[in-house]
Order: sequence, then C-alpha cells, then structure tokens
Amino acid sequence: MPTGVQIQEGSTKLIVPTDHSVNGPGRINGSVFFNEQMAFNRDVNVMFLRALGRRITVADAMSATGARAVRIANEVPDSVVTANDVNGDAIPYIETNIALNGLTNCVSSHRNLHSLLAENVFDYIDIDPFGSPVPFLHSAIQGCKRYGILAITATDTAPLAGAHRAKCERRYQSRPIRGPMCHEGGLRILLATIAREMAKFDKGMTPMLSFYADHYFRAYVHVEDGAGNADDTLSKLVYLSYDPETMERSVSNEMDKDHKYGPFWGGRLFDKDCLLKMDPTNTARDKRCSKMLALWRQEIDDIPYLYDMSEISSHLKISTPRYETFIEKLSGYGRASATHMGPTLFKTDLELNEIISVFKEQSFK
Ligand SMILES: C[S@@+](CC[C@H](N)C(=O)[O-])C[C@H]1O[C@@H](n2cnc3c(N)ncnc32)[C@H](O)[C@@H]1O
Repeated sequence: MPTGVQIQEGSTKLIVPTDHSVNGPGRINGSVFFNEQMAFNRDVNVMFLRALGRRITVADAMSATGARAVRIANEVPDSVVTANDVNGDAIPYIETNIALNGLTNCVSSHRNLHSLLAENVFDYIDIDPFGSPVPFLHSAIQGCKRYGILAITATDTAPLAGAHRAKCERRYQSRPIRGPMCHEGGLRILLATIAREMAKFDKGMTPMLSFYADHYFRAYVHVEDGAGNADDTLSKLVYLSYDPETMERSVSNEMDKDHKYGPFWGGRLFDKDCLLKMDPTNTARDKRCSKMLALWRQEIDDIPYLYDMSEISSHLKISTPRYETFIEKLSGYGRASATHMGPTLFKTDLELNEIISVFKEQSFK
C-alpha cells in the first residue's frame, strides 16, 4: 500500500502522495507526481471521451498515480484502459487506485512507453510528460490505431510562447511569436509539430479539441491515414507577420521576410459537434468546465491570429470599450468572437482599420 492521502476527483477515489503539487507546472515532491490543478485537464479528458460515445481502448502512457487512467476507466463507459509508467514507484499507486474503485477494465503496466507502443496499438493514446512531448510523438503515432486519437500535453509553455526563442526553434523547428498572440501561437506550434511528425508516416490529422489553460497546452487530434491526408494536413501550415508598431497581422502559406513567425497550424482548433456533446455533469470542476465549454463553442477557431483590446487602447491612447459590447458591435460588420486565450483578446476577420473605427466609436460611449 503506497503512502498518501485519499481524495475524490469527479466520481473517482484516488490515493495520491501526501506532499503533492497544488498548482503551476508541478514538481515531483516525493517519487511519484500528482498535481491537483490538473483536475480540470482530467475533467476535460473524461468529458471528451464520454462525448465520443463508443468503446475505446486507452493507453495512459505516462500515468504517474494513475489519476487520469483510473478516472477514464471509472467515468467513461465502455473504456478499456492501460495505465502505464516507467517509474516503479508509480505502480503501487496505480494498482491501489484501480482496486479502490473496484475496476475490472483497467490494468497497470510498468514499461517504457516506447516499447509499450512499439508492441501494442490503442484507439486513444495520452502523452502527458514533464515539459515537451516532442521525444514521445514518434512512439505515440506508432501505437495509435488507424483513425485513432492522440492527446498531447505540453508544459514547456515558455519556449512555445516565445520567451525562449532558440529553444523553441530547436525543439519545435518553428519561430514563436511574442506579445498578445504568444499563447495562440504556442498552441498552433504544438499542432504544427504533431502534424509534421504524422506526415512522416503518411498520416494526416484533424484537431478535435486544442486549448491553452493554466501553464500548459493540450491537443486532442484525430489521426487520418493516407498520403493524401498527410498532404492536406501539411497544406494547413502557415506563417504570420506581426508589426507591433502598426498592429498589422497577416497570414501566408510561405515564409518570407515579413511572414517570419511559424510554421503554425492554420486550421481549426475544435470539432464543434464534439464540443456540443461534452457534458460537465459530475466533473471535479464543473463550473470551470461549463465556462470553458461555452467559450470554446463560440470561439472563431479558423483564424490563426487574434487582437488585444489593451494593445489597441494603448496604441490609440483612448479608453477600452466594454469587452462584450465591443465584440457584439464588431459582429455587426463581420465575424468576431471572444477567445479562451485571454479576457482582453478577441478574434475577427475584419481589417485593422475597421476594428479601429469600431473601437474608437465604442471607446467614447
Ligand atoms: C507529468 S507526469 C504524468 C501525470 C499524470 N498523467 C496525471 O494526470 O497525474 C509524467 C510521468 O511520465 C513518466 N514517464 C517519463 N518518461 C516515461 C517513459 N519513457 N515511459 C513511461 N513513462 C514515462 C514519469 O515517470 C511521470 O510519472
């Protein structure tokens, strides 16, 4: 029996190390990792898999205490789960948590994920490492069944969001963007990296749910076999230009002296039908889940850049209009929406001069 405390997440009971992380990127305090703040991330996982509504074989390839795997096995009907971790100290936690919930559809596995996924295939594979997922992508793709789903977490937010440009260029072979678009850019660099890794195996992808939250990026992508799908996926990679002096942004399929940021994923972030089926009932953080679902459902996700009300306000040296009213007014002229990337950020297909004109008009109201 491992030492620890018993908690409840969703409808699942878990024994976790007493000295665990409660927020931030998390750290290993004892020998096995657990971060309470990731309860929301695991909630989204449960809602997402429930929304698929079918029998699914799952590999939680980096399971630590088994929190994610055991929640899936307990809360997603018709799931058959392998909870794997290379760390021997994690296995007693995984096995205790399986027994604590009386599960017969979850097994523990003590392997390096590279060998597990070289020898077995699953409908759904979860990669949740410390930091960058890049070293694990190849194996995750290899172990994913035809038309399966990969779920990838990246907690190396600083390089992806441009705080360490050289590190991002080295790891992700993409130039990150600073400023208000840093998190949108980071998420889209992660997606572009997954897309290019898939293409090496003649596979394409469609993102089903991709988001930024707390200290991490997370992407659920549907894998589509075939060279045609790979080419189609690669054709959705784009480069951005951004001039902080003029606030102009633009997109190009080619890299040039202006479009020097990227490549980014230029396609959609969400499968809106799947989002509509996701139900926050009985999750651990149900209020946060409901709020995020509402934001994602309304968000314009096929434009790879965004604008910042604070940036426009300091540029024009005028006060900031009310956020909701401003987006509503913009919607009268074109497409406009809030984004989960931040409370002052918005998406629109309007030209900058049109945005400025509505901003000025609303600023004096
Ligand atoms: C961030 S923790 C996972 C947290 C867990 N998914 C959760 O929701 O609580 C990362 C885990 O990956 C494991 N790990 C690292 N490299 C691995 C590998 N090559 N194969 C399997 N597990 C690995 C570590 O031992 C660690 O327990």
